[in-house]
Amino acid sequence: MSILGGHLLGLEYLSPGQIANLLDLAEQAASGGLPTDALRGRVVANVFYEPSTRTRTSFELAARRLGAEVVNFDPERSSVQKGESLVDTALTLEAMGVDAVVLRHPSSGAPHLVSRHVRCRVVNAGDGMHEHPTQGLVDLLTVRRAFGRVAGLRVAVVGDMLHSRVARSAAWGFSKLGAQVVLCGPPTLVPRELEALPVAVTHRLEEALEGADVVMALRMQTERQLGGFVPSLGEYHRLYGLTPDRLRLARPGALVMHPGPMNLGVEVTPEVAYAERSLVLQQVACGVAVRMAVLYDLLASPEPTPVELRPVSRFELALSGSGRV
Ligand code: CP
Repeated sequence: MSILGGHLLGLEYLSPGQIANLLDLAEQAASGGLPTDALRGRVVANVFYEPSTRTRTSFELAARRLGAEVVNFDPERSSVQKGESLVDTALTLEAMGVDAVVLRHPSSGAPHLVSRHVRCRVVNAGDGMHEHPTQGLVDLLTVRRAFGRVAGLRVAVVGDMLHSRVARSAAWGFSKLGAQVVLCGPPTLVPRELEALPVAVTHRLEEALEGADVVMALRMQTERQLGGFVPSLGEYHRLYGLTPDRLRLARPGALVMHPGPMNLGVEVTPEVAYAERSLVLQQVACGVAVRMAVLYDLLASPEPTPVELRPVSRFELALSGSGRV
């Protein structure tokens, strides 16, 4: 029976049991326990409206390792440039036999919109400032491997919370599995809405680091016009950058994470990023196994769970024009 049922849109919508079962399935994938032809005959479309190295490549490797065909849809060289809407693109791919759309999009909620109009599976590969659920699973698996558990750990997430989908997925995922999560960043980059999440919030790095078992630095998203939020990246580093000295405030042996890509000298110094206590490359390594688990769970079942379909409203079509939601 499928763990996820229909789609993977966010960790917010999953139970602790579903998350733990997905991590177990990822471990099975990592140890070669999933059949290499499990997805033979299935087609996975990578539909990325924003750049990606880790997520896109690992979804492709994951799909191929399970025997699926992979289509890499490039919005820049597609009919999106002629006004094709997001929903129309998804329906078009589905009509060609695509079984799963792996969607990264700059608008929060884009995968949710698509999921309401297609029969195929939708996997959120990062939607705007909302969630990045497979990154959340990657981070959980990395920590579970390093510590043997997630429950009871203190996880400090430092940086640009306003724009970070990684932070939201981490907040949901770690708190659901029993970790204590503290989010920390400059007041301009920590929106009040985060106080509604099951996390603590602080603007003082020292307070966030105190007693932390895991310190996760977030990328400063310079493409999202940070100019108005911090005086300069140098100033940000002076106040919130992770350095060997600052890490001494965390628990002895605390481990460092970063979802990548890193701005070295901004969020972390190179000494921290590449130190023995850094899990950055272990995070990347977990990516393929986690995405194999997700694709296997959604597509290996011979009788996929029916997905509720309803007509695309005129309002949604207008919103989704030219690839925007
Ligand atoms: N962490 C992450 O999502 O990286 P990419 O943008 O390279 O996929």
